[in-house]
Amino acid sequence: MRVLMVCLGNICRSPIADGWLRQKSEIHQLNLLVDSAGTSNLHAGERPDSRMRKTALEYGVNIDDLRARQFIQEDFDRFDIIFAMDKNNLRDILKLARNKTDEQKVKLLLNEPFPNEDREVPDPYYGGQEGFNQVVQLLDVATNAFLRNYKLI
Ligand code: 4NP
Repeated sequence: MRVLMVCLGNICRSPIADGWLRQKSEIHQLNLLVDSAGTSNLHAGERPDSRMRKTALEYGVNIDDLRARQFIQEDFDRFDIIFAMDKNNLRDILKLARNKTDEQKVKLLLNEPFPNEDREVPDPYYGGQEGFNQVVQLLDVATNAFLRNYKLI
């Protein structure tokens, strides 16, 4: 299964979602292809935000090798599931959908642990350390729920 994590900048939320899922895929020896992207090109080519890299490491996840890139229409062909971190991301991804098949691939990630609640991963970019801790913890829970819901673990 091929999974793409998407946020706005691809430097805070989607990199740690990506990092958690890659790590769990390795631990459980799953056949997952995982990547992340941003709906904007604001930070294309950059490493994840230094605050997120540091926080991720504190939770045992190394995301230092990831580089930001923008979501492109071809991602609908390259991935089976496209997880948006918030509703703006969801809307921006859906603007690029070409057909119903594309549309059906796009989901809010937090509907995995919290079905039908349409909850959003808060953007930690303009806040303090607590926001980064919260996002890392929330995305640990969310990636576990995804793996269980899809019967991968
Ligand atoms: P992300 O966070 O979408 O979780 O990567 C943000 C990163 C950068 C900006 C906003 C959110 N920005 O405005 O530059």
